[in-house]
Amino acid sequence: MTAVNDRPDTTWHNPLRDKRDKRMPRIAGPCGVVIFGVTGDLARKKLMPAIYDLANRGLLPASFALVGFARRDWEDEDFGQVVYDAVRQHARTPFRQEVWDRLAEGIRFVQGTFDDDTAFTRLAETLDKLDIERGTGGNHAFYLSIPPNAFPVVCEQLRKSGLAKPRDGRWSRVVIEKPFGHDLGSARELNSVVNSVFPEESVFRIDHYLGKETVQNILALRFANALYEPIWNNNYVDHVQITMAEDIGLGGRAGYYDGIGAARDVIQNHLLQLLALTALEEPVSFSPHELQTEKIKILSAVKLAEPLDETTARGQYAAGWQGGEKVVGLLDEEGFAKDSTTETYAAITLEVNTRRWAGVPFYLRTGKRLGRRVTEIALVFKRAPHLPFDATMTEELGQNALVIRVQPDEGITLRFGSKVPGSAMEVRDVNMDFSYGSAFAEDSPEAYERLILDVLLGEPSLFPVNEEVELSWEILDPVLEYWAQHGKPEPYESGTWGPPSADAMLRRTGREWRRP
Ligand code: BG6
Repeated sequence: MTAVNDRPDTTWHNPLRDKRDKRMPRIAGPCGVVIFGVTGDLARKKLMPAIYDLANRGLLPASFALVGFARRDWEDEDFGQVVYDAVRQHARTPFRQEVWDRLAEGIRFVQGTFDDDTAFTRLAETLDKLDIERGTGGNHAFYLSIPPNAFPVVCEQLRKSGLAKPRDGRWSRVVIEKPFGHDLGSARELNSVVNSVFPEESVFRIDHYLGKETVQNILALRFANALYEPIWNNNYVDHVQITMAEDIGLGGRAGYYDGIGAARDVIQNHLLQLLALTALEEPVSFSPHELQTEKIKILSAVKLAEPLDETTARGQYAAGWQGGEKVVGLLDEEGFAKDSTTETYAAITLEVNTRRWAGVPFYLRTGKRLGRRVTEIALVFKRAPHLPFDATMTEELGQNALVIRVQPDEGITLRFGSKVPGSAMEVRDVNMDFSYGSAFAEDSPEAYERLILDVLLGEPSLFPVNEEVELSWEILDPVLEYWAQHGKPEPYESGTWGPPSADAMLRRTGREWRRP
């Protein structure tokens, strides 16, 4: 296991950083990005558009190149066309011909398979040529948007071809996408393979939730204000609900998802990262090292609540209605085994064993084909110790809640009781809303824009380190083993809020899920 301190703290040691004008955009230096897996969905829908958006925002250098590596029998122009189509279809910012033309000049394609040494020799030659033609300066980011079982061979090829070891003063970074293994053992193996080729400071593990503005705002909300921190603890908070609900199904994703399931796909990474940011102690500074130290401390304190048959729930979507359309169940989606036991809904209860959080359950849930798409963190507060009203006056009064809406309608809502206008002292819940859309003129960048730029700048703050990944598996492994031994997930109708066992899980403790 590599300790968090092994990653040099570039921000901490850079005295210029604090003096930099914060309004100046951070522009990457000369470099090339190589994407492995360019024919995949992620590359097409997120990575290529994000690179264009960065170029469009003036955040890429003139000396930039994009290289695709794949088995397809393509020339540079064919790949250029693929990138163009992806940009036209999925870019966030408007299309500008001159930006595209400049980007297109630096697009190259290398044809080959991962086990073909000569293909990697050609890749090295292509990058050398680009260093001269485009001035990319020998700096390269290798983006592995490929299945994890291909990581070892690609890393080994990058080592053999000398690409993993840059010459003096240049950098070579590897970007890896989840899943980082399927349990603790496989994550450790994967980490040791990657770290045998790239030092930890050159490894950037993408958890795209950390690139979302609203997720970064958790830290601003907590630590830039005097208001919240005093109540951010077990004296006031009754429980925390972290929800990532999606309305989409899994058509077309069987290859990735069957056998993986909701807990590995989302809880192990996105939701545990959200929990860490919600629960961590104030870092000494926002240097990458200090932030990672606090995340590691809090993840070390997280334990599954037991017994698991009462504190967890899992489900699999059945047919139903969504957005006015009839949709099929998972077992009828193309590519899924007819007897697949893959869960598409998962809920777990966690304890955070620190002085601040002892006794406050954290409920995490995620699912496909749920009522609507929403990701939120809700701190639900304890009831007032005494209500000096008639019970009938407060019938419609719930618990106070602070809700951080990660998406959509990014913002923060505070729910509290207010007097209903009229002669009676009737009290009912109302919401006070902050919305990004109306408070700020700028649109939020896509998570991948921020994260790719950070890779090129060598800014590690938003990337989980080895130890975080392994701690997250340590938390989740027992529930995965338990589920593997205990039958099938419970079916739930598409368009609803998950299986009845998930409701029962909370009801047992006298609580209920929010219906966002
Ligand atoms: C990915 C998961 O990490 O996140 C997908 O693999 C999920 O299953 C996606 O659909 C959701 O991302 P977002 O940004 O749309 O919430």
